[in-house]
Amino acid sequence: MSLFNVYPLFDITPVKAKDVYVYDDKGIEYLDLYGGHAVISIGHSHPKYVEAISNQVANLGFYSNSIQNPLQVALSEKLAQLSCCIEYDLFMCNSGAEANENALKLASFHTNKKKIIAFKNSFHGRTSAAVVATDDAKIIAPLNAQQEVEILPLGDLVALENALQKNDVCAVIIECIQGVGGLDESTTEFYVGIDTLCKKYGACFIADEVQSGYGRTGNFFAYQKYNVTPDIISIAKGMGNGFPVGGILIHHSIKASFGLLGTTFGGNHLACAAALTVLNVIEEEKLIENAKNMSQYFIEKAQEIPQVKRIKGRGLMLGLEFDFPIAELRKKLINNHKIFTGNAKNQYVIRILPPLTIQKKHIDSFMNALKSEL
Ligand SMILES: Cc1ncc(COP(=O)(O)O)c(C=O)c1O
Repeated sequence: MSLFNVYPLFDITPVKAKDVYVYDDKGIEYLDLYGGHAVISIGHSHPKYVEAISNQVANLGFYSNSIQNPLQVALSEKLAQLSCCIEYDLFMCNSGAEANENALKLASFHTNKKKIIAFKNSFHGRTSAAVVATDDAKIIAPLNAQQEVEILPLGDLVALENALQKNDVCAVIIECIQGVGGLDESTTEFYVGIDTLCKKYGACFIADEVQSGYGRTGNFFAYQKYNVTPDIISIAKGMGNGFPVGGILIHHSIKASFGLLGTTFGGNHLACAAALTVLNVIEEEKLIENAKNMSQYFIEKAQEIPQVKRIKGRGLMLGLEFDFPIAELRKKLINNHKIFTGNAKNQYVIRILPPLTIQKKHIDSFMNALKSEL
């Protein structure tokens, strides 16, 4: 059997990683400014994370959601404390797509409606409803296309109100900063407008924080820059620092009932041990503050490079826009300087998604490499 060939691969085989560095099978060290696609929050193989997962698996790695699991309770309490989302409950699952799938399904249950509104250049995952809310026709199969979705221009409140007025919308889903699309963010007025219009027309406001959450933007959640109250917040990537875990935060106005949502693996003991350690380390090592400080330093340094036409995003969810496609530059950064960066749907943007533990010296190395290639 060979592997189903869906990923174009770099010819690099990582076998080890530590904090912001990844090591391949030849012992070559790579600086990781990609964080395995915004996943690594507290740094690769953080000792407390390794210890917590090792201890947990030695005791109890998994049991189903039919028993008491105090780790889930501890996680929800810690998450409420660090995110300040005290008016929400937690439902756990295993990935970002699954988080959005549950968010959309719950919105439909809650409103008894079925149309979704999403925005141009959005990415919400590859499952049934999440994939149709994703603005990429190539990844929507005929089976998925039956879901009702309207993709609106980012920032267009008039179009949004026109769509909501038809009273058939269960959810408006948005990434406050677009990840895969290329780091676009709209105005305060737009996000506040979504919040107001959703409440006016009885649709759920879903903030997709799968990529932008967990401190990456310098706030715990990116939407917290604005004075808005989403009905559902979806989380994944940084939550487990590589352990596959996701979830949704559900506002108290949405009521639970037995059987409404469910999962075999979601919220298992091992996932909770990983996710709880991530939150503890974020707090102990003041990683949100570090994200803010390092972001400022990164932006100052990037502004000194004339070929950088625009700096997009916030915190450590940044994009550097050039006036040429970046594919070659990105390859050179990997091959010549051993630095991982990310790409985006916008082919002019390099994405920077490092672990939140990054320091100035790592940023300096990147800037020197970038300058020498430019
Ligand atoms: C904003 C956003 N939502 C959802 C997803 C899907 O997450 P997953 O790949 O864990 O299913 C992604 C993945 O990149 C994402 O960036």
